[in-house]
Amino acid sequence: MNESKLTEIIEKYGSDTNAIVAILQDIQEEFNYLPKDVLMKLSEEINVPLSRILSVSTFYKAFSLTPKGKYPINVCLGTACHVRGGARIMEKIERELGIKRGETSEDLNFSIDEVRCLGCCGLAPVMMIGKDVQGKLSEKTVVPILDQYKK
Ligand code: FES
Repeated sequence: MNESKLTEIIEKYGSDTNAIVAILQDIQEEFNYLPKDVLMKLSEEINVPLSRILSVSTFYKAFSLTPKGKYPINVCLGTACHVRGGARIMEKIERELGIKRGETSEDLNFSIDEVRCLGCCGLAPVMMIGKDVQGKLSEKTVVPILDQYKK
């Protein structure tokens, strides 16, 4: 664990225990997930029981207690994307990467999750890879897109 990174994050918010969500967001941003040892250290440092930190961590869907890929893939299965073949795109990505939704690739490069509407239905079917929105997907175009993110 990179302790100095955690110290930096805690210092940013001072002793404000109401800032737990913001602190967890920063930790997630830094590590791509919420590592258990980091949460234990956080609990000690800000004097908040680990149980409370864990309950906040599991309440918000944006947080993950398991490692996420360097490029988290969020495939939209909202109505507009579903109608335009979002489920087939999801299956293609799962086959291509050899992992299922909710899983992370062994090299920690990718993880796959499904989301309901990314707010750009005009581009359906849509996915996000990291911070990039990729729209108007087809089973054909999705593979070269994934290739761009492979190491
Ligand atoms: S339903 Fe997919 S972006 Fe809205």
